Amino acid sequence: MTRRIVILRLVLGCAAAAIFVGLLLAGRHGENPRAAQPTRLANQDCLRCHAQVWKEWSGSRHAEAWRSEVVQASFRHFGFDRKCESCHAPEPLLAAGIMSDPVLRSVGRESGVDCTSCHALADARVAASRDLPEAPCRPRREPLLADSQACGVCHAAIYRDWQSTRYAAEGKTCQGCHMRTASGKITHACTGSRDTALLRSGVRMRARLERDSLWVAVTNHRTGHNYPGERHHRVLLVEVMQYDAAGELVAGEQAQIKGVTPFRGESSAERIRSGQTWRRQFVLAPEASRARVRLLYKLFPWLPDREAFAVAEQVLERASDEQPQTGTAP
Ligand code: HEC
Ligand code: HEC
Ligand code: HEC
Ligand code: HEC
Ligand code: HEC
Repeated sequence: MTRRIVILRLVLGCAAAAIFVGLLLAGRHGENPRAAQPTRLANQDCLRCHAQVWKEWSGSRHAEAWRSEVVQASFRHFGFDRKCESCHAPEPLLAAGIMSDPVLRSVGRESGVDCTSCHALADARVAASRDLPEAPCRPRREPLLADSQACGVCHAAIYRDWQSTRYAAEGKTCQGCHMRTASGKITHACTGSRDTALLRSGVRMRARLERDSLWVAVTNHRTGHNYPGERHHRVLLVEVMQYDAAGELVAGEQAQIKGVTPFRGESSAERIRSGQTWRRQFVLAPEASRARVRLLYKLFPWLPDREAFAVAEQVLERASDEQPQTGTAP
């Protein structure tokens, strides 16, 4: 009887000791990495020391990627879909040490594609173009950050287009066109189709008269992917208005370069590929003496023509035989 109690006490004692030691070890184990590493920075922390970058990013579509009305409305329309929302509020993309597929964050989704999405690394340091171990956020050189892949994980269609262009061959990345100011400084404004200067920089329109025809050529000469880029609902069209000598409209016509394409399984065929030219012949009315040609870009298909952005505009006079005058109309 007493022996049994002694054994029982021994067993219980050992178990208690084992649990105690176990807890101690577990505690140590949990504490060690924290002692060796700084605490992981939250997105909001970056504002304190990088106010200028923060300001640029705040005005970008990336900052709106979750909270934008259009995005929220489309999420409501499609219903909750983890896969759908992942690119709009992702966990840090470089956390796995490789460029991983976006995974939806469980907290802080409001900030959309934020500083931590692109910069946070697994070891609580930040991805940068060079090592700066002394800086508070401990930047570590991570070549993937400046690679087009860093954009391609989310901008999949445009990344595929880019890969087959001369820009990819020459090493001109997404960042090179979208994250540089005119003077070459890095900017996080990362503008796209709402940047009229960028829209104008990517294509060139040439119109010329030839007897009873008006020829229009639109060349994608400086875009690192199709023009228009990615969105299925962007619309690009050429409008030709013809006027007689008295200034009366005698003919008006539009030719669509790109209309709305299906949401899924989007085809790239309907755009102007990088380096290529779209051409169309328009018939001139006999009484036409002047023609105004405009290349119009619409963010959304339902916008009226007056809200379209005129990427290019050219006025041609028919008066002296085949001697087009180029210039900008009011
Ligand atoms: C307490 C201040 C502080 C905080 C917080 C902070 N940083 Fe920094 N960061 C710095 C300083 C200082 C440098 C070094 C700047 C230099 O030497 O040009 C730096 C450098 C960097 C660099 C490299 C810049 C270069 O010139 O190559 C990156 C990238 C960066 N920080 C990102 C972040 C991100 C992202 C966050 C938020 C997660 C963050 N930092 C939070 C102070 C901070
Ligand atoms: C693979 C990443 C990815 C997934 C998955 C994804 N999106 Fe997006 N979404 C993007 C990118 C990148 C853009 C910005 C493209 C652009 O503006 O050219 C975008 C833009 C948008 C916009 C803004 C369009 C505009 O013109 O402002 C809406 C709305 C949207 N997505 C809704 C959705 C919905 C709904 C789903 C699910 C059916 C979805 N997204 C799934 C990456 C993704
Ligand atoms: C969409 C991804 C993305 C987001 C979001 C982003 N960055 Fe960056 N950041 C980059 C890339 C890419 C570079 C390097 C660009 C290059 O070298 O071409 C960079 C460079 C930097 C640099 C060094 C260059 C400089 O301007 O001094 C700092 C600092 C920085 N980021 C901080 C931030 C902070 C702070 C935020 C949030 C306000 C942020 N980044 C959001 C991708 C991102
Ligand atoms: C985590 C996913 C993700 C990553 C990574 C990402 N983007 Fe985006 N990007 C988006 C989403 C989503 C939007 C659209 C947000 C909206 O319109 O509401 C967007 C918008 C844009 C726009 C504006 C498009 C427009 O129509 O105005 C540009 C330009 C852009 N991204 C370029 C880049 C570049 C360059 C990189 C790489 C440095 C990059 N993005 C990395 C998700 C991403
Ligand atoms: C040689 C310069 C250049 C390069 C390289 C480039 N872009 Fe663009 N990008 C442009 C121009 C110009 C536009 C405006 C015309 C358009 O929408 O196609 C644009 C537009 C965009 C848009 C807005 C498209 C839309 O429909 O709203 C996104 C998003 C974008 N680029 C992302 C990227 C990504 C991601 C890469 C790299 C894979 C990249 N770009 C490479 C010049 C470039």
